[in-house]
Amino acid sequence: MKTLLMIKPDAVAEGHVGDILGLVERNRFAIRRMTKTQFSREGAERFYAVHRERPFFKDLVSYITSGPVVAIEIEGDEAVSRIREFIGATNPADARPGTVRYMFGKSLQNNAVHGSDAPENAQKELEIVFGGA
Ligand code: RTP
Ligand code: MG
Repeated sequence: MKTLLMIKPDAVAEGHVGDILGLVERNRFAIRRMTKTQFSREGAERFYAVHRERPFFKDLVSYITSGPVVAIEIEGDEAVSRIREFIGATNPADARPGTVRYMFGKSLQNNAVHGSDAPENAQKELEIVFGGA
């Protein structure tokens, strides 16, 4: 099973890529591919299409296109749920100690990382980011 772990623009800009990759390795996640890329507006709208009707959609597109992201394809048993556990709750204020968002998240929006929420979404998201976001 594959999933997408993505380091968002806030965490890239603040220089947390190395620390987050270190945590990925220490947790024995297998990295298959990795790329640094910047979302176009169209790419971001496709990536977050499920949130199109949400009040925060415009801000989310601005945020995710604001600078480069680092996309990491992870493969392994239960990769989707294990990565979701590893990153922690959406709002860093609710994230458990030891999770990436607890350590590096700044706010509900600027929460440092993304993790796919289902295998079929992982496939779509991987195609977007590795196909040229
Ligand atoms: P992600 O997709 O980034 O892994 O995060 P998630 O599943 O935990 O959260 P989701 O509900 O999919 O929301 C996607 C991203 O939108 C931003 N957000 N802003 N202002 C708000 O109320 C709000 N709510 C969510 C966050 O960046 C969240 O990760
Ligand atoms: Mg999500």
